Amino acid sequence: MTTEQHARAPRGTTTGMRALVRHRYGATADVLRCERVDRPRPGPGEVLVQVRAAGVDRGVVHLVTGLPHPLRLAGYGLRAPRNPVVGGDLAGTVVALGDGVRRFRVGDEVYGTGHGTFAEYARADEGKLAPRPATASFEQAAAVPVSGTTALQAVRDHGRVRPGQQVLVIGAGGGVGSFAVQIARSSGAVVTGLTSPGKLDFVRSLGADTVLDRTADALPERRYDVVLDTGGGTPVSRLRRALTPTGTLVIVGGETGGRVLGGVQRQLGATLLSPFVRHRLGTFVARENAADLAVLAGLVDSGRLVPAVDRVLPLASAPEALALLCAGSVRGKLVLSV
Ligand SMILES: NC(=O)c1ccc[n+]([C@@H]2O[C@H](COP(=O)([O-])OP(=O)(O)OC[C@H]3O[C@@H](n4cnc5c(N)ncnc54)[C@H](OP(=O)(O)O)[C@@H]3O)[C@@H](O)[C@H]2O)c1
Repeated sequence: MTTEQHARAPRGTTTGMRALVRHRYGATADVLRCERVDRPRPGPGEVLVQVRAAGVDRGVVHLVTGLPHPLRLAGYGLRAPRNPVVGGDLAGTVVALGDGVRRFRVGDEVYGTGHGTFAEYARADEGKLAPRPATASFEQAAAVPVSGTTALQAVRDHGRVRPGQQVLVIGAGGGVGSFAVQIARSSGAVVTGLTSPGKLDFVRSLGADTVLDRTADALPERRYDVVLDTGGGTPVSRLRRALTPTGTLVIVGGETGGRVLGGVQRQLGATLLSPFVRHRLGTFVARENAADLAVLAGLVDSGRLVPAVDRVLPLASAPEALALLCAGSVRGKLVLSV
């Protein structure tokens, strides 16, 4: 058995574990099950983490459905998932080390991303883990890795947000948005959050200077130095009208759809147009790494970033958690307690 494979393990086996698995791609309710499987073994450069909490992220939905199709070419399995266990974010305790691991010891409390984290144990690359923020619970820490890293890279690297700039966050009440509002604010920007009606107070509580109801206000007529778009499908032409003459648009994500392109047409359009206009328009794929996790842990421990955990659900409720996420009603993040 390779380390990617998780055979079904009989109940009571000492090397078994509970995990959320799917053996084929499909709708969450049809394919996702809580089963007993073998514990994974850490490969070279990996550690085995006893998962205490796992964050629920949009990426998990893509990995359950196998859509858009190009994702399957990225090593996740063409016809069926290579690793049946789902989940990316984790916080937990290192219980075993693979060959060559230098940065961690057994017993270290860590957070970051791993391979199949909706489980009692998960493998993780040591380069995608950092010590758990000292002031955060496992549940709070598990909410951070993918969404926090994405928000940090959107604000700092792609938005290049500077103190005093006007920043608009679209989808401010979602996972990435809730981190982006706080990180932009802690960078000294003046932040406007565009959100759904039921999340206005929530986004205000994150520190946004101005909060707008996306159903009532649509896109505001004022101009922003940086627009970070994490939700919906506002056309690039409309987003550009919300920018100052040399402003920056970062499309983090948005409406998904289409089995092939998965709704990335706006991102492609913005990237192709950018060289020909004064605006900087673009998108990016976040790269989880230990250095950024350490930055995020520092922000959490200094009180400048508070992971917004809407609800903690038990591991077996992962299908319900993914359904809630897709319904768009989650304030910030959902976390599974393992
Ligand atoms: N580029 C990358 O590397 C990267 C990494 C992670 C995620 N993503 C993508 O980024 C997007 C956000 O991820 P997430 O984890 O934050 O998802 P999420 O937690 O589901 O948040 C998305 C938010 O978008 C807002 N939204 C939904 N429909 C909208 C509409 N019609 N108009 C305006 N806003 C709308 C909602 O926020 P409000 O209720 O506040 O309006 C929703 O909470 C997803 O598309 C995800 O796939 C990209």
